[in-house]
Parts: sequence; C-alpha cells; structure tokens
Amino acid sequence: MQDDVGEPEFSFPAPRRCPFEAPAEYEIARERGVVRAKLWDGQPTWFVGRYKDVSSILMDRRFSSNVKEPNFPFFSESRAKVLLAKPFGLPFIDPPEHSKLRRIFAPMFTVRNMELFKPQLDAFVRTVISDLVEKGPPADLCKDFSQRITVWSIVELMGLPHEDEHFFHECSQGNLFQTIDAAAGLRANEQMEIYLDQFLAQKEQNPVEADDIITRLVIDHIIPGNLTREQATHLLVNLVLNGQDSTANMITLGALAMMAHPEQLEQLKQDPDLVSNAIDEMLRYFSIALPVAPRVALEDLEVGGQAIRKGDGVVASIVSANRDATVFADPESFDIRREGVSRHLGFGQGVHSCIGRPVALLELEAVFTTLFQSIPGLRLAVPIEEIEGTGETAQAYGVRSLPVTW
Ligand code: HEM
Repeated sequence: MQDDVGEPEFSFPAPRRCPFEAPAEYEIARERGVVRAKLWDGQPTWFVGRYKDVSSILMDRRFSSNVKEPNFPFFSESRAKVLLAKPFGLPFIDPPEHSKLRRIFAPMFTVRNMELFKPQLDAFVRTVISDLVEKGPPADLCKDFSQRITVWSIVELMGLPHEDEHFFHECSQGNLFQTIDAAAGLRANEQMEIYLDQFLAQKEQNPVEADDIITRLVIDHIIPGNLTREQATHLLVNLVLNGQDSTANMITLGALAMMAHPEQLEQLKQDPDLVSNAIDEMLRYFSIALPVAPRVALEDLEVGGQAIRKGDGVVASIVSANRDATVFADPESFDIRREGVSRHLGFGQGVHSCIGRPVALLELEAVFTTLFQSIPGLRLAVPIEEIEGTGETAQAYGVRSLPVTW
C-alpha cells in the first residue's frame, strides 16, 4: 500500500474541451490509480478515476457526504458558500439519518407510480412536439423542448401548481449555476424554501387526499409526526431543483449525440428496442452529474492500493469511471449498441444513488421513442463546432442552447 501523498497532478474540476470529450487530465488517474488533485482554493484532494475504485467508494459507508466535515472537497468557492449555508437534501446527509429519510422518499418513485405517470408524460411530450411543429423551425431544443418537459414532470409528480412553472425553472437555473454564482444559488434555494414551506403549511391545514408526492408526505409523514415540515421542505427543495436541469441537460445532450451520429439515429428509428441501451450510453458518455462524488474518509483506509487517512477529502469521479477502458471498450466513442453499458455510474451507486432515476429514465424514454420519429428531418441548425458546453462548472453538464431545424 502506498502512503505517499505526492504533488497535485491537475486542478479539479479539469476543463472539458468540447461537449463530447471528458477532461483529458482524468486519464492520468485511470493510468496511475488514486492521485492528488488541487481544488479551487489550492487545497489538495484525492482524485479517484478508475471504475473499480470509484464504485468501491460509492458503496463504502466509511466515506461521508457531510459538507460540514473539514476537508470536504467543494467543487468551487461559490458552491462551498451555497452548500455550507443551505446543505439541503439527501446527498449531504450520512446514514443512519439518511437511511430513515430515504425510506420515506424512495417509495414515491416506485415502478407502479411511474407506470401511472407514463401515459400523462407521453401525452405531454406529444403536446410539446406539436407545439414545436406548429411554431415551425428554428427552435432551441433546450428551452423549447427539454426544459419544458422536465419542469412539467417534476411539478406534476410533486403536485405543485403548473402556473408557477416559470418560478421553479428560474430557481432551478440559479441552482444549476451555483458553482459560479453563489448569490444566484443562495437566492434560488431561499426562494424555494420559503415557497415550499408555505405550500406544505397550507396542505397541513387543509389535507385533501391525492397521490402526488407532496400530499403523501404531508398526510403520511408530516401530520403523523415522522417528519418535520422543515425537514420535508429541505429535502423537497433539493428534489425540485435538481430534478429539472439534470434530466433536461441529458435530453438535450442525448439528442445532440444522436444528430451527430446519423447512422445510429437511423438504427434507433428502425429498432425502437434499442432505446434503453441508447439511453444508458448517453448517461455513460456524458456523465452529466459533474460534482459527483465528493466524500470525506471517516477512518484510515485504502483505495486502489493508496493509503487514505481519516479526514482526507476524496473525489470519486463518475465522469472518469465511465470512460475506463477496462470496463467500456473504446470508451471515447459513442455507441448505442455498446454491450454491458448498463454498468455505467451515471446515476451513482450505493446509498446515495439517484433517487430520481426512475423518473429520469421515464422522461428520456418518452423523448427518444417519439422526438425523431415525429420530426424525421430534425437536425442541427448550426455547425456542431459552434455548440457551446456549460463547462465543468455547472451542477449538471449541458449545453447553453441547441439550435435545431427540420
Ligand atoms: C439524467 C438525470 C439525472 C442524473 C444523471 C442524476 C445523477 C445523480 C447522481 C450521480 C447521484 C449520486 C450523487 C452522489 O452519490 O453523491 C444522484 C443523486 C440524487 N438524485 Fe439524481 N440524477 C438525475 C435526475 C434526477 C431527478 C429527476 C431527480 C428528482 C426527481 C433526482 C434526485 C436525486 C436525489 C434526491 C439524489 C440524492 C440521493 C441520495 O443521496 O440518497 N435526480 N443523481
């Protein structure tokens, strides 16, 4: 076991040079194993880039996700400010508290609930496509398509008022770029907190039976006293904010990848059974959850032959793991027929794995079984080199806009 601390190999997060490339620096960690990287404030952290090691950290309860731990590896100064002031949500709570809260929320995303939601979602996706067609080209696939679908979905599932969608979207955008604009991130979290606290209070005073997530939380958990309104509010802020742009960005990037690979797009149109493999490949290839996963070691331990001391910060990079050639052959290519792609870590793994995975998959499936079939001539309206990625500093990787025509 190596006990050598060593000099930082690169700054984390390293830049992605175009929407299709993972940062080249992470290759160093896949070659050498666990390495040192430098954070925004010059502090060193461990960077873990091999699939096997990233997976073992995600599954290991000796690593904490608590942002209050000294040496927690924040992505940027701005994100540190936001998360230390508003550490909202399941991602930043450790077991056993995390297990208790997760048991309350997980049943809301069951297969049965998703089956009930599917017909409404499919109908809404068709409406958004009809609106696009009616308005005519060109369009921005981000704004006019992906974001409409994901904000509507979260609002529908939560039982929030659709007339407030614009507010939820604005807050979500503030949260998305909290990594570069702390004031916007804090404002987004505070505004959502106030809104949801009032919404829950009204439901508590006037509980009317319904199947949506917020009504179930109020009737089954807040009123009986399993959960305080404050706890519920904090967890919901995180769900409502993170449940929008992550999936919207994945839809947009997935569509971009399909348009950049017309022969694969043709295969997908001919064989709709390919859709689930294609979606897994999109999740692997783009690995959009950029800040994942920051952890702090709770005891002395070893990862990939490297000694890690209690209290050390660690970044277990799913972006890097998903490009590990020992698991995914020819990892830099996009291949919707890739074998074994469902092993990707795009939704994380272990206790903190994505609770919204069933919703995100349902939305992606609704889109990629309909969009290109309904608008067969859909294509980029600008040269691909002009498509600008959000860089490694957003909460979820994406593109600023995706101009399309047909
Ligand atoms: C394509 C879309 C999405 C991707 C790629 C994604 C990715 C991830 C990843 C990698 C994690 C693990 C974080 C960690 O280990 O620290 C995570 C956790 C989480 N995600 Fe997602 N997510 C997506 C959509 C959603 C949606 C739609 C929701 C809400 C409806 C959601 C809510 C959450 C929550 C609450 C957690 C924390 C779970 C916990 O700590 O127990 N995500 N997500």
